[in-house]
Amino acid sequence: MEVKIFLSLLASCCLAVVNAELEGSKIFDVTPSNVFQQQILEKLAQSGIYDFFLLPRALNITSRVMVNPKDQLDFDRVLTKNSINFKIVNEDVSKSINLERSQQNIMSRAINRGISFRSFERFEKINAYLEELAARFPDRVKVTLIGKTYEGRLMKTITISNGDKRANKKVIWVDGGIHAREWIAPAAALYVINQLVENFAANKDLLATYDWVVLPVANPDGYEYTHTTSRMWRKTRKPSGNSCYGTDPNRNFGFHWGELGASNLPCDDTFRGPTAFSEPETQIMRNELLKLNGRAKFYLTIHAYGNYLLYPWGWTSGLPSNVADIDEVARAGAKAIKMATGTRYTVGSSTNVLYEASGGSDDWALGVAGIPISITMELPAGGSGFNPSPQYIDPFVSEAWIGIKAMAQRVISKY
Ligand code: ARG
Ligand code: ZN
Repeated sequence: MEVKIFLSLLASCCLAVVNAELEGSKIFDVTPSNVFQQQILEKLAQSGIYDFFLLPRALNITSRVMVNPKDQLDFDRVLTKNSINFKIVNEDVSKSINLERSQQNIMSRAINRGISFRSFERFEKINAYLEELAARFPDRVKVTLIGKTYEGRLMKTITISNGDKRANKKVIWVDGGIHAREWIAPAAALYVINQLVENFAANKDLLATYDWVVLPVANPDGYEYTHTTSRMWRKTRKPSGNSCYGTDPNRNFGFHWGELGASNLPCDDTFRGPTAFSEPETQIMRNELLKLNGRAKFYLTIHAYGNYLLYPWGWTSGLPSNVADIDEVARAGAKAIKMATGTRYTVGSSTNVLYEASGGSDDWALGVAGIPISITMELPAGGSGFNPSPQYIDPFVSEAWIGIKAMAQRVISKY
């Protein structure tokens, strides 16, 4: 009895500490309906005061913004003055994060072995799952240590084959978790692994002429930081000057690096880094993708959120020369999901349907690594933030898999 009280006190103390900075923060969904209103939102985003989770260029699309208590009055005033439509979708972010944490705790206590799709797994457990698969399925699974993060975590890929021992097959690459707070992305990458390995019989066509290489957590330091310290962290964790930390890995790739849509301020969430590939994590990804030279035909990177299947370029509104092929693959994914669950995805080049952002992994994969089909998949948002609550992980990742499978099938039949 006393132990129980002590534990619950301990839990409430520490939960509060983790999210103290989010206490009273609200999330606004804001929908501009004309160019003038859109420009005001862009100015608000540029001010750096507000945390825009998403700010698409298109009109009549809802942007989601997190606002600190001290800035709420001003924010509300600007929107009202300009008759911009908005809705408060979360009255206190810290409360919903605490709820997420307690749901997480309940689920991870219930499941102590392997991984589940009922809670967002910690990095160590994800790596342990990869090793467990390698031990159980040595003919079809290989785990490779590809390098160490800034804080020394071991980055591992899993290579999945059908066991035919044919060397140098073509490759589909999947990564998740480039952005730390987008927890559903590593979960979706894990589901890809789970299906290809543990549900092999149903998916063996996807492995007949191709191997898959999956990096489920591309930014482990950031990912762990969102679990232990700051739920809304996006970047890596290497100190970057001005006593700020981290670089946006998706602005750090060396193709048109440092051009539009990437900040040069170390404290910003979209900091591009001091140089291209300044971060160990992006260097490691670059090296692995280059090692696959010529074999990789499909680069898929999973993010959240917004229901987008995005493709290059993100650095310009121009389009790649093989845009028709990429578009066809992306549309196959969107269509499969639409037919299965009704969920809609927007398909297009990231500059044109979302915003300009240079230094992305997708642009580099096509522009430098020469991987012909390169796609960023932005999974749907959950509830009022980035991710669904834990009980919706399973439906989200299995829906994503339907789209991924359809895109892979298209790639496999064409290349
Ligand atoms: N939400 C992603 C980001 O902001 C989209 C990236 C799309 N790709 C790109 N090269 N801009 O990083
Ligand atoms: Zn992202």
